[in-house]
Amino acid sequence: MGKSGSAGPLMTLDINRFNGVPLHLQISEALRKAVSNGQLQGGERLPSTRSLAGDWSVSRNTVLQVFETLISEGYLEARVGDGTYVKRQVLGDFTATSATDERPLETKASYPFRGLSQRGKALIAHRLGGLTERPTLFMPDVPDLQAFPIRSWLRLMNEVSGRLKGDILVNVSNAGYEPLRDAIAQHLRTARGMMVESRQVIITTGSQQSLDLLARLLVDRGDPVWLEEPGYVGARAALMANGCSVLPIPTDEEGINIDLGRSKFPTPRMVLVSPSRHYPLGGTLSAERREELLDLSRTTGAWILEDDYDCEFRYRGQPFAALQSVDRDGRVVSIGTFSKTLLPSFRLGFVVVPIDLADDFAKARAVIDRHAPIMEQMVLAEFMHRGLYSAHIRRMRSLYAERQAAMLQLLDETLSYTPPEFECAGGMHFVLPFKEGVDDTAVAHELWKDRIVSRPLSMYFSGRRKCSGLLLGFAAFRAEDILAAGKHLAGLGDLIRRND
Ligand SMILES: Cc1ncc(COP(=O)(O)O)c(C=O)c1O
Repeated sequence: MGKSGSAGPLMTLDINRFNGVPLHLQISEALRKAVSNGQLQGGERLPSTRSLAGDWSVSRNTVLQVFETLISEGYLEARVGDGTYVKRQVLGDFTATSATDERPLETKASYPFRGLSQRGKALIAHRLGGLTERPTLFMPDVPDLQAFPIRSWLRLMNEVSGRLKGDILVNVSNAGYEPLRDAIAQHLRTARGMMVESRQVIITTGSQQSLDLLARLLVDRGDPVWLEEPGYVGARAALMANGCSVLPIPTDEEGINIDLGRSKFPTPRMVLVSPSRHYPLGGTLSAERREELLDLSRTTGAWILEDDYDCEFRYRGQPFAALQSVDRDGRVVSIGTFSKTLLPSFRLGFVVVPIDLADDFAKARAVIDRHAPIMEQMVLAEFMHRGLYSAHIRRMRSLYAERQAAMLQLLDETLSYTPPEFECAGGMHFVLPFKEGVDDTAVAHELWKDRIVSRPLSMYFSGRRKCSGLLLGFAAFRAEDILAAGKHLAGLGDLIRRND
């Protein structure tokens, strides 16, 4: 048996729960470093996965995932019936004491250009994670994972797999599976008032791919792009990774402020907006600003990229039709996702493009990744054509409305706080605004000690002036659990910015 684990370096791991980097990646990286710099020595026995999960406040599965990765990379070894140890000779360890450092110079010189390209560096500069842990109260942006109609989905998978023969095995349009494009077009015409034919619909693997595709195809490196401030970090990352010059435009309860945008940066090449429900503040782009935006596009030639986000979950008042529905000049490109209405891991979404661009988008897809996997597209097409998608949205809308009411009650009873009316109209989270100067990231870290997940509002700002606050999601959690969570939020009362 080796010496028993000195937990020192393990206990002090610096884990950041809000930078979007999956926890298992952060922990693996920290352990690699600890091994490479000798903080963890070869032959050292690591504490059990259960105790490390407790120390790091992560699930045991996360620790198991880390161990598996590091074992496969040669940093750790599992000894049956004994435990997990730091391996004595670490593969790929480039520290002074490692064997690999003695590679002959010619070997090193034979890789003169090893390392990321400038584009590669830009791509990884914005670290975005996905869901890495099962959601716990009040994780934002997550739909109810249990409510997904898994039985109907499996039945359709079974049925559809019987149809996997003939042409469909090899011949799928790069723009997507035709019946799915039809179903989406039909859904958008009825639910969003959009003027769309199925040939305008390009199936993607979600909004993130749609954003990347649009940034590649419609803007050039260095082109100015307006982005709502605060705004969606995923959009900012995709645009910046493609070399755009992203310009933060102040956004309030009526949406992006076109006048301010015009006065600061008059000729954008593209404007990215979430008109239906601004992310993360929750306002709806007003009729007046819609007109101003379309006018800006007409006079400057700017593309409008509409993220029709959260349009499905509206609980009060009349929903606005999509901006695309009033565009007469073919300047609005609209994106949608199934990540919130179905499941985030499905990775299915779409772009609605002006008709004259449809072929070009399909050609670009051919170069990038051809198309999304056919089986998922076939099942979703069937799910939509049979009315199961609309029925599921209706069910979720009333479930989330109940949960929203529970959240409002909790905020009122615990913090005497009532969100503004525009925020209550829909969505899956509330923003709790803090007084100026409150460190919202520190507050989020503090809440995490009680297993409460929130997101600091400041992370959605890219300019120097950031507002402080917390995003608290409610969609994925039962009303009774929301109502029982008062004790965790009670300490926030003094931090809240109140308008009265
Ligand atoms: C504003 C916004 N748009 C789109 C998405 C969905 O992204 P994706 O389809 O890549 O999962 C999200 C996810 O949180 C979001 O916040």
